[in-house]
Amino acid sequence: MTRPQALIEHIPQQMRRSYDRIAPVYDRGWPKAKRIAWTSAWEDRAVNKQLVRRLPPGGRVLDLGCGVGVWLKMFRVAGFRVAGIDQSPRMVQFSRRRNPGSPVFCRDMRRPGFAAGSFDGILSMYAIIHVPQADQPEVFRHMFRLLKPGGHFLINVCRGATEYVGEHHGEWLYWSGSSVAESFRRIRNAGFKILWHRGLGPRNDHHMWILGRKPETRRNGDAQGTVVAARRELTRAMSRAGVKTLRDIERVVDAGRS
Ligand SMILES: C[S@@+](CC[C@H](N)C(=O)[O-])C[C@H]1O[C@@H](n2cnc3c(N)ncnc32)[C@H](O)[C@@H]1O
Repeated sequence: MTRPQALIEHIPQQMRRSYDRIAPVYDRGWPKAKRIAWTSAWEDRAVNKQLVRRLPPGGRVLDLGCGVGVWLKMFRVAGFRVAGIDQSPRMVQFSRRRNPGSPVFCRDMRRPGFAAGSFDGILSMYAIIHVPQADQPEVFRHMFRLLKPGGHFLINVCRGATEYVGEHHGEWLYWSGSSVAESFRRIRNAGFKILWHRGLGPRNDHHMWILGRKPETRRNGDAQGTVVAARRELTRAMSRAGVKTLRDIERVVDAGRS
C-alpha cells in the first residue's frame, strides 16, 4: 500500500509538469495589450487598496508563485522593483518575457533564496493554495525573513480545511487549505500582524485573502521577549522562596545578609 506521505512527495514534480503545460494557455489568455492582463476588477482593487498603497514608492516587491508574471508587470509598471519566483520553468520563461530585466527565478517558495529583509512587499496570488498544509508554516516563516521590518504581504489561501486533486485546463493539480483560524494562527506564529482579511472568489467563499505586516522593529520584539522571560523567571524564583509581598523580599534579603 502507498503511504500518503509518498504521494505527497510527488506533488511538486507533478505540479511543475502540469503548470508547464498550462503556461502557454495562461500566457495566451492575457494579451500584452491589457495592462493587468486577466486580473478582474475586484482583484485589482484589492491589490491596489490593500498592498500597493502601503508600499514605499519604488520599493522592492517579491511575487511568490508569479506564474506568467502579470502581477509582476503591474507592480513594475507602477514603478516598483520586482522579483518573482515560480516552480514551473515554462511559467518563468513567460514571466521573464513579460518583465524584461527583472529577476525571475525557477524556485520553490519553500526554498525561495534571497537575503533576509530584501523586500518591502510580498505578493502571492493563488499559489500558496498548492502548497501542502504541512509546508505552509515554513512558507510564512520565509516571508517573514524576506520582508523588511514594517513590510507588508498580501496572499490568498484556500478557505477551509481541504486537500484535493482536481483538473485545471486539462491537467491535474493539487490544492490544500486549512481552517481560517488555523491559517491565521500559522501566520501570527511566523511573527506577523494580520491587518485585513476577506473571503473572495466566485462565490465569495473560495479563497481567503490576507494582508499582514511584519512589526517595525524585531529588536523591540526581542527586547520585549527578554523582559517577559526575565519576569517569568523572577516570578518562579519568588514562588520558590515563598515571596509574595515587599516585606517577604526584605525578609529574604535580610536572611541573605546575616
Ligand atoms: C494559479 S497559478 C497563479 C499564478 C500567478 N500568481 C497569478 O496570479 O497569475 C499558480 C502558480 O503557482 C506556482 N506554484 C505552485 N506551487 C509553487 C511552489 N511551491 N513554489 C513556487 N511556485 C509554485 C505554479 O507553478 C503556478 O505558476
